[in-house]
Amino acid sequence: MSFGIRLKQELRGVIPDFLVDFLPKRYVRLGSIAIIRLKNELLSYKELIGNHLLAYESRVKTVFLQKTTSGVTRLPEMEFICGENNSITLHKEVDTTFWIDVTKHTFSPGNHSERIRMMNLIQDGENVLDMFAALGNLSLIAANHKKAQFLGIELAKRTFDYLIKNINENGLESNFKALNGDNRNLAPEEQFDRVIMGFFECDELQLEAAFKAIKNQGIIHLHEAVPNHLWDRIDEKVKLVAEVTQCKILSMNIRRQKKYSPGVDHIIADIEIKR
Ligand SMILES: C[S@@+](CC[C@H](N)C(=O)[O-])C[C@H]1O[C@@H](n2cnc3c(N)ncnc32)[C@H](O)[C@@H]1O
Repeated sequence: MSFGIRLKQELRGVIPDFLVDFLPKRYVRLGSIAIIRLKNELLSYKELIGNHLLAYESRVKTVFLQKTTSGVTRLPEMEFICGENNSITLHKEVDTTFWIDVTKHTFSPGNHSERIRMMNLIQDGENVLDMFAALGNLSLIAANHKKAQFLGIELAKRTFDYLIKNINENGLESNFKALNGDNRNLAPEEQFDRVIMGFFECDELQLEAAFKAIKNQGIIHLHEAVPNHLWDRIDEKVKLVAEVTQCKILSMNIRRQKKYSPGVDHIIADIEIKR
């Protein structure tokens, strides 16, 4: 039985009736840590809900409440609710391990399919630039399965330190290099077959840096959060930068990855360009 249905069943009659429909339907699990979001009306029942979650899934040892995520370095605001008071966990996907401190880093389970897609698209021998590397969220699994060379750039020192830890944990020191700083200054020019841009607020300078990073021909994977009916907006931005960098757009395919917020999609544009 799903967590949401079971929680409703167990808390009916325990919490006021009008709150039952506000109970969370799902949670995110990273390693041994579960993360839930709660409506304000339910905050006084957070321990009760957290303890039900601990009993629901035996792999969960700790429950955190997610509040906001702020700034360009995506710092999460988390509150410990119950279980073992530990914010660091070892999360595994496709034979790849990620050390994550849930109070310091974001890692979206909803991007799992994109991590797999990257692993399948990237070919042995490619040079790949991950411009917003975080913990290797979108590129580490590919690096673990393909004989390709990766460069990850990460702005936040707290996240960069864990990126290095994850590279070492997976024994990828020879094919994943990392730089700590701003990708606007650090992205090398004309060296890559593929550039990954997993950040929703990239500016024109960063998109220009991505175009310039591509060798003669290559693909940019651009992630954006766009209102449902305004996917075309991405077109204008990309065409402008193509003009400035004197590149030709060979193709552009846009897909919906997931819902970002009500009325807003997380989309990914695969843009093939030629110099
Ligand atoms: C949203 S996270 C990536 C999350 C990832 N897409 C996922 O699947 O969960 C974006 C990362 O880009 C980093 N970042 C933001 N601006 C940057 C910049 N100018 N240069 C390099 N990294 C940057 C942030 O610190 C953050 O770790």
